[in-house]
Amino acid sequence: METGAEVSGQAGLAPYPVVEEVSSLLNRPADEIDASVSLGERADFSTRVSELNAKSAAGDPAAFYGQQLLLSRIYGLVTQLPEGPTAEGSIVVQEVLRQLEQATIAAEDGMLESGILDAAPAEPTAFLSWLKKLAKEHRVYKHPYYREFIRDQATADDLRHYVIQESVVDGRFDDLLAMMQVGTSGAAKMEIAENFWDEMGNGDPSQVHTHLFNQIYEVFDISPDELERSLTANALLSGNLAVLLCRYRNLYAEAVGFLGMTEWLAPDRFVQVVHAWDRLGLPDIGIVYHKLHITVDSRHAAGWFHNVVVPAAESERMRRAIARGTLWRLNSSARYLDERMPELASHR
Ligand SMILES: [Fe+2]
Ligand SMILES: [Fe+2]
Repeated sequence: METGAEVSGQAGLAPYPVVEEVSSLLNRPADEIDASVSLGERADFSTRVSELNAKSAAGDPAAFYGQQLLLSRIYGLVTQLPEGPTAEGSIVVQEVLRQLEQATIAAEDGMLESGILDAAPAEPTAFLSWLKKLAKEHRVYKHPYYREFIRDQATADDLRHYVIQESVVDGRFDDLLAMMQVGTSGAAKMEIAENFWDEMGNGDPSQVHTHLFNQIYEVFDISPDELERSLTANALLSGNLAVLLCRYRNLYAEAVGFLGMTEWLAPDRFVQVVHAWDRLGLPDIGIVYHKLHITVDSRHAAGWFHNVVVPAAESERMRRAIARGTLWRLNSSARYLDERMPELASHR
């Protein structure tokens, strides 16, 4: 998988017209699509999506971008309230979605070091220590993108670009929690609920985290349209992995690992963002979100580990899945940050 080249912008999608063809279905009523798309056309979509996935797996940056852009657009059907009809529930679209998901899952699993999941200790607190050690020894931990680039070099324009890329997870963390908590009970549900209530500003609308995050957009004047156009393939992937894991009940344990690690890594990263913000003298209103999460997310991570991870880690199946989700987060975040390093990026 090529990670050095940063690919965004829809211009590179010309070899893969299937991305726009399927996208154009998404604001049509599901039943109408399913009645009008013939079996032959369905098979043709399937063939061309397989080809897109194969090219992506072989390292074609445009195919990887097209795959993740289409997946994110289809996920929009289940993560956003529509203004008109949508393809939500369409069998034709579901078939494409599943192909994209399977390829995305296979790519992440293909990046796991072989045998790593077998190395997890069985005792729950030892398991947690092992997870943290995995993270601390991973190149993503204290990555130079934050520790050097953001902290000491980034310009206001770099920060603007940075927050656009971060929107796919930070901009909807509350909805991710809401999706992943379905079916949980006891201490885990309570922990997710407390975390969610923090996301809701503990009842104060002006303190809702997504609202605070969006204040950055006001500083930088970023429109929703620019947002989609500017997202790189790896940023789209980060958001897609989060939705994928939070949405499927059989990936609940992976979501526990993925989101837990996201919270645990955030404080040190945000210290660097706040440092850059102060260094550049940008307006205070835009940095409230990051300042807040330096303390809130250390608390969230601790609560998550103690109340969600450790109790779940009694079972071997859960341990493997939590570790898998944790590693997906570490690995995908590392590739994303590598891509963002200025000397590697083809353009910024
Ligand atoms: Fe938050
Ligand atoms: Fe949090």
